[in-house]
Amino acid sequence: MIKKGIILAGGKGTRMSPLTKAVNKQLLPIYDKPLIFYPLSILMLANIKDILIIVNKGQLNQYKKIIPNGNNLGIKITYIEQDKPRGLPDAFVIGEKFIGKENVAMILGDNFFYGQNLTTKLLENTKLKKGARVVLHKVTKPELFGVAKINKNNRIISIKEKPKKYLSDLAITGLYFFDNKVVKYSKKLKPSKRGEVEIVDLLKIYKSKKQLSADLIGRGGAWLDTGSIEDFYKTSAFVSAIENRQGFKIACLEEISLNKKWINKREIINSIKFYGNCDYSKYLKNLIKK
Ligand code: TTP
Repeated sequence: MIKKGIILAGGKGTRMSPLTKAVNKQLLPIYDKPLIFYPLSILMLANIKDILIIVNKGQLNQYKKIIPNGNNLGIKITYIEQDKPRGLPDAFVIGEKFIGKENVAMILGDNFFYGQNLTTKLLENTKLKKGARVVLHKVTKPELFGVAKINKNNRIISIKEKPKKYLSDLAITGLYFFDNKVVKYSKKLKPSKRGEVEIVDLLKIYKSKKQLSADLIGRGGAWLDTGSIEDFYKTSAFVSAIENRQGFKIACLEEISLNKKWINKREIINSIKFYGNCDYSKYLKNLIKK
């Protein structure tokens, strides 16, 4: 079972400047919560309680204001500052001590997942013992993404970053599961032309060893990469539509912990005090009314 997870929540946020000049992207709102709540909820739904959040140098205090530690959620949060955005696989180099001898999941701080059977799929993926697994999702413009071609057994046979010629319409999302070799392989990577170590190069190492598999989010599920301002607002609209129609919240962290019995009423009351008088707190009050 994979018990450790990393959220990569630094980055330049260039595409969202000037919004991201003073505030990190992951602290900006997706409807009624900071973006970081959404990827954190995904790791929690995967039963991952030991979580490393990688943030930009100088931004640690801002993150600690909203997620001080995992106490009120019954989880353990560790932070590390990344001195500059060296690329996604850098997470496994600076996270080496956190990972130790175990396997690890990683989610990008700006990725949003929602949908039917998602929890079942997540739990299935944490059973990974050897190799690497990436989560794929069908998109209409594959030329804008890293894409993967798979065979009948969900093994990845080809991957390409932003392919000009059609290869597949399955985009590689920002959710990955790795065995412990990821640390060793990541250390070997050389920066690409744009000066960053690339996740595609890391995945290619696993592919060359025939150890790269895929999981697909079907049509019942949504994946949104919130990297641009347009996508950011689309994701907000999506969350607002679902929450207001159905009356439950997406990515209410305390609700997930309570359902999993990681916390009880006392921690929820602490959270209500922490957030103060707001709709989110009202929602928390309702959870413990019974
Ligand atoms: P990107 O989308 O590659 O970069 P970015 O968020 O900085 O945005 P832009 O391209 O507009 O400049 O990063 C994906 C996620 O990973 C994002 O949440 C930021 C994070 N990240 C890090 O924390 N460290 C890194 O070294 C990189 C490259 C990204």
